[in-house]
Amino acid sequence: MPTLSRRTFLGASAAASFVASGAGETATMTSATPKAADESYWRKIAAQYDLPSGVTQLENGNWGVMSRPVLEAYERHQRMVNRQSSYYTRREYGADFQQILQRIAGALGVSADEIALTRNATEALQALIGGYNRLRPGDAVLYADLDYDSMQAAMNWLRERRGVEVIRIALPEPASHQGLIDAYEQAFRDHPRIKLILLTHLSHRTGLVLPVKEIVALARAHSADAIVDSAHAWGQIEFRPADLGIEFMGVNLHKWMGVPIGVGAMYIRRDRIADIDPFMANDEAPATDIRARVHTGTANFAAYLTVPDAFDFHEQVGGTPAKAARLRHLRSLWVTPLRDHPRIQILTPEDPRLSGGITSFRLKGRDSVAVAKELLDRHKIFTVYRTGVAAGPCVRVTPGIFNSADDLQKLVQALKAMTSG
Ligand SMILES: Cc1ncc(COP(=O)(O)O)c(C=O)c1O
Repeated sequence: MPTLSRRTFLGASAAASFVASGAGETATMTSATPKAADESYWRKIAAQYDLPSGVTQLENGNWGVMSRPVLEAYERHQRMVNRQSSYYTRREYGADFQQILQRIAGALGVSADEIALTRNATEALQALIGGYNRLRPGDAVLYADLDYDSMQAAMNWLRERRGVEVIRIALPEPASHQGLIDAYEQAFRDHPRIKLILLTHLSHRTGLVLPVKEIVALARAHSADAIVDSAHAWGQIEFRPADLGIEFMGVNLHKWMGVPIGVGAMYIRRDRIADIDPFMANDEAPATDIRARVHTGTANFAAYLTVPDAFDFHEQVGGTPAKAARLRHLRSLWVTPLRDHPRIQILTPEDPRLSGGITSFRLKGRDSVAVAKELLDRHKIFTVYRTGVAAGPCVRVTPGIFNSADDLQKLVQALKAMTSG
């Protein structure tokens, strides 16, 4: 069985089959960043995905489907692992895993010893929140309404676990770059004992992107740390942890990086590793090692083995810059014509710093559950309603890179029809 050398990645990779499948001219695909509005380019990409029929799929935030070449690679890895069994996993998987780890770290612009692979962002973030060891009884921790429910629960749990006060704020709506920073500044002023904050980089509820760099710096100025939930950010928007000053972060690879379900990662900046306790006195890795901070047990080997194939495909498409630009373009196709509609409330602002591809809305005077249902039943457009926003539930629209301009046009028509008369 060949090991996963870089040559093997390229030789049998998704990228190779992507090109071989006649999707297009390799030179154009790999050189320039494709134009976000170039429908013919994106049609070729979309042809690499199998999508549900009979419905316009605008709910791609739950998890990210694999392109067909990546799915084929995943199936190949699954068959290999199943055939070779422990003869592979005990002898060769360790070296392959190291290469995968290197590739993930490289893609994030961090070092492999600052990354521990997990099965999802939840596992990474729970280990960070639970393991953060600088809290003392009487300190305070902070989170916001837009944060993810299970991370809110983990922050609440710190009350019993660490004896801290738990502060919850509602982020301003409508949001602005400065308004968001001010909301955190105000919380620090009101609660000088805050020592830890949770920041959701890109909200799964509304699509709002926080000014992470400014808020992390603000936290530092108040002697507090930030744990950043980038579950939805990696692959949807461009960022490097170092550029934002991030020291603790959880990410998913199975949302926007096109990796099979079951792959996430924890990042801790090297000089901060000691501030997260080893997980349940983990003795499988040295206490100084990030891998001691999370222990997944046996995970899905084939899912990890598919990371390089998925990354090859991601790069073929143009990488995060191209994906982010396409997703923003698709978002603009429905948000721009409806932004000033008197009966539609768009929840992420125009400021390009504050959104990616996801954006939520409300129809004034209407229940968001019923709106999402009507979009599906009447217009065959699949979205999802989201609760937990302090100002009220909303409907989330999450295009994928395989959606077309026509898909968003359908949404505009449907919403206009639903608000006329
Ligand atoms: C903001 C945010 N954080 C964390 C998670 C948890 O991700 P997972 O269920 O893959 O662990 C999600 C999932 O949707 C999310 O949107």
